[in-house]
Amino acid sequence: MTGGKPLATSHPHAAVESDDMGVTPGPFSGEVAEYYSRFRRGYPKEILDAIFDLTALDANDIVLDLGCGTGQLTLPLARHVRLAVGMDPEADMLARARQAGAAAGIFNAVWVLGSDTDVSLLGPLLAGRMLGALTVGQALHWMDHEQLFDTVEPMLRPRGGIAIVSNGSPLWLQASAPSRALRRFLEGWWNIPLGDDACGTDAEARRRYTDALERRGFEVREVVTEYCETLDLEHIAGSMYSAMPPSRLPSAEERGAFATQLGDALPADEPFVENVRVVALIGSR
Ligand SMILES: C[S@@+](CC[C@H](N)C(=O)[O-])C[C@H]1O[C@@H](n2cnc3c(N)ncnc32)[C@H](O)[C@@H]1O
Repeated sequence: MTGGKPLATSHPHAAVESDDMGVTPGPFSGEVAEYYSRFRRGYPKEILDAIFDLTALDANDIVLDLGCGTGQLTLPLARHVRLAVGMDPEADMLARARQAGAAAGIFNAVWVLGSDTDVSLLGPLLAGRMLGALTVGQALHWMDHEQLFDTVEPMLRPRGGIAIVSNGSPLWLQASAPSRALRRFLEGWWNIPLGDDACGTDAEARRRYTDALERRGFEVREVVTEYCETLDLEHIAGSMYSAMPPSRLPSAEERGAFATQLGDALPADEPFVENVRVVALIGSR
């Protein structure tokens, strides 16, 4: 999986309540962050290579990975640059990203709590240095991309670029009988229609992002990699837990029933084969 926006919420802070500190936990907080870290995919090497090539990244560069989540894109980038800045408004996602980095022996990533509207604040921190690239993996649909591109464009070094990457489409929107069965099951579990929001992974979203980059003088290349993977029940349920806001996550006691009923709802004679289409829009100058 696939997709980006947690199910059944249209705003990062929708349908959740403030905690004791008055800080609002977002849709990727708590156990959702844990499931995200365990079950969301990393990015294929071809996509990472294309980002490096088209933005001329090298070992001296600083990269900003905005909406970094648990570090799926930040960490492989960090291996080849001087510093990767992973920025995200969800502290629980950043905590998991930091753990994943430490587990992988990657210590040149810094994790910054902030959202797209905070990016300009990085200017003074960079102290005259420029960014080699801005990357956004599966997260631009949460942001005001026009304003973000305006902010970042002057922060990029010559030949630097912007890479917008989507990592497959939501599991319940695939063209297969198991995917349709998953969708029916989820709609029944919550008693709500899921809608067809592809979370910024669709062609229309890519056209808007490409247009916005080209208007700012970027040359945009689209790089696509596609593969299939057969998912077991644990992976399907874990992916679903990573894609729903904490308010909709089945309680720990309910999760056994969720998985059993999900298993019963899926076709017995057809494996769940996920088609993962990874698309990077890479704007360079
Ligand atoms: C679907 S996850 C993507 C995580 C990771 N980049 C990946 O490729 O798997 C979306 C991330 O965007 C973050 N996010 C939501 N609103 C944001 C905003 N306004 N600015 C920056 N990040 C945001 C969320 O907290 C979440 O970690």
